Amino acid sequence: MNRPELLLVLIGFGHVARRFVKLLDEIADRLDFTWKIVAVATKHHGSVVDLEGIDMARAIAKFEGSQSLDRLDAAPRERSGIDVIRQVADALADEAAEGRLICVETTVLDIDRGEPAVSHVRAALEGQAHVITANKGPAAFAYHELEALAESVDRIFFFEGAVMDGVPVFNLVRETMPAVTIEGFRGIINTTCHYVLSELERGREFSQALAEMQMRGIAEADPTLDIDGWDAAAKTAALVNVLMGSAITPHHVARTGIKDVDGLDVRDALGRGKRVRLVASASRVGSKVRALVEPEMLDKTDPLFSLESLDNALYLDTDLLGQVGIVQRSSGLTQTAYSLVTDLARISQRLREF
Ligand SMILES: NC(=O)c1ccc[n+]([C@@H]2O[C@H](COP(=O)([O-])OP(=O)(O)OC[C@H]3O[C@@H](n4cnc5c(N)ncnc54)[C@H](OP(=O)(O)O)[C@@H]3O)[C@@H](O)[C@H]2O)c1
Repeated sequence: MNRPELLLVLIGFGHVARRFVKLLDEIADRLDFTWKIVAVATKHHGSVVDLEGIDMARAIAKFEGSQSLDRLDAAPRERSGIDVIRQVADALADEAAEGRLICVETTVLDIDRGEPAVSHVRAALEGQAHVITANKGPAAFAYHELEALAESVDRIFFFEGAVMDGVPVFNLVRETMPAVTIEGFRGIINTTCHYVLSELERGREFSQALAEMQMRGIAEADPTLDIDGWDAAAKTAALVNVLMGSAITPHHVARTGIKDVDGLDVRDALGRGKRVRLVASASRVGSKVRALVEPEMLDKTDPLFSLESLDNALYLDTDLLGQVGIVQRSSGLTQTAYSLVTDLARISQRLREF
């Protein structure tokens, strides 16, 4: 097979998914696969299924004009994301069996149970589709179940964008660190909180800095998930589940957000050569893992101290490599969209190996 054609079902069509669609077009000549988007499902903007391939410029225009995607569908009807996944998996059963059907899950993070994303992933795998997602929910709430299901149907369940956008974390460990045990980690992994704290140092209002993160499409749809530390806790749970082999949810992470952090205190700390930052960490304690998200007072010797306002960093403690640091400069939507491209490229590579 030269350049396999991948058939994509988009569940969620928000900031990340639309940037992903545009990015694929922008870098098409660099990719070793071609693609066709055969379905898009949303919560409030309807859905469209077209097995011949959807006109995505029109779909984006409809969505951004607050019109329903139903208008692009030959036989429009109300259906959930799961309905769309099942409809396409049935109609494209042969392509699914060949490993060419892929569900791209980018719905919003639900911090109660990771739903409906977990169910979307399950339904897609049951329909023999691979799944790629930037949503933290599935890996944070149901990693072991979903990975076992993916293995049982010989499909990929990847989620590189769930932590640190497009910078490789899961793929780095999976592909390049065989036989290494991750003993723990520590990092700054929530861009919105990091940006808000950095802006407080510059004398800006908390609400203004947060509004800018919302405007740029970086904050969660519900920004209290960032500010209360839930987003960082979900990422921490995903890292613990995948890299440390434990089975926790975000609710097992001891969590303090930044909503009570005061600008005066942040500037006072800076005057004393220190910085207040929201730090996520995990470490093994006997047979268990202790996971934590909380504001910390960093001094200049801390490797997290000098990060710029849109940077993320994660330091992994390993048994064979010592400490491995991963730093992302200037995170943003393109990086998250790129994480989906890397996951897609891995599926394409696998198809070409057969
Ligand atoms: N934005 C970032 O920088 C970033 C970075 C890393 C990871 N992520 C993760 O990526 C995911 C998407 O983020 P985003 O910024 O694109 O969010 P977003 O702009 O809020 O878009 C979410 C999309 O999901 C759809 N949706 C929600 N519930 C649904 C359901 N039950 N069935 C079908 N569609 C549903 C929404 O439909 P409607 O528009 O009709 O409501 C919307 O199209 C989130 O899980 C987020 O945590 C985001």
